[in-house]
Amino acid sequence: MRKKIVAGNWKMNMNLEEGISFARSVDQYFRKNPSAKAEVILCTPYIHLPGISQILKDSKVALGAQNCASEASGAFTGEVSAYMIKSTGADYVIIGHSERRIYYKEDDRLLNKKTLLALNSGLKVIFCCGEVKEERESNMHFLIVKRQLEEGLFTLPAEEIQNIVIAYEPVWAIGTGLTATPDQAQEMHKYIRGLVKEKYNSSIAENITILYGGSCKASNAVEIFSKPDVDGGLIGGASLKKEDFVAIVEAV
Ligand code: PGA
Repeated sequence: MRKKIVAGNWKMNMNLEEGISFARSVDQYFRKNPSAKAEVILCTPYIHLPGISQILKDSKVALGAQNCASEASGAFTGEVSAYMIKSTGADYVIIGHSERRIYYKEDDRLLNKKTLLALNSGLKVIFCCGEVKEERESNMHFLIVKRQLEEGLFTLPAEEIQNIVIAYEPVWAIGTGLTATPDQAQEMHKYIRGLVKEKYNSSIAENITILYGGSCKASNAVEIFSKPDVDGGLIGGASLKKEDFVAIVEAV
């Protein structure tokens, strides 16, 4: 059975003190309520990683970053490498989030490079894909997602793909309050699983975790997660409130 995951993407929110106290309260919740069926991951800003990693020692809650550099090391002022992220105790990194693609012009080739560096550093990758509104309206969404996966991800050998989680995040649903309908999510997740099967094989396709992201909240999570190819969520806004976040984890 493939792994169910709920990952919180904090984006650029919370200072260090706030982040640490929030992570502590999420951790305490899952220590007291160990029955959650999903793996829980907190994807925090870089500077929070070392401190939160201490709190999450022996915890059920895992830790991840939201980005990494596209180079391994050297004269790249301001950048943080995958190797540095791994050394904090984090296990995951989000790569290819639409905010990176759009605001920082990260293209498929660069994201592929980051993915390889992250895997080489021992991190697992939450690889995001998804179409913008105009692409969906012109019925290009399948083609766009296919291109993003083929160029960003499908250069990986089969043995590496087990360290990948795919997150389908339609850009028009991120932070907008518009959510893909459960059927729209299922349709795309099934399509993505089919692409993985074509490129690799059916056992890899059956085992890969595919998350939905985009205005996922406690009130719609149950319905979205009930779809057979939706294996959990990547949660932005609703991951910043403990009650909302744990309710989404419990929806799995
Ligand atoms: P949202 O963001 O849940 O606030 O829509 C999801 C994401 O960007 O990962």
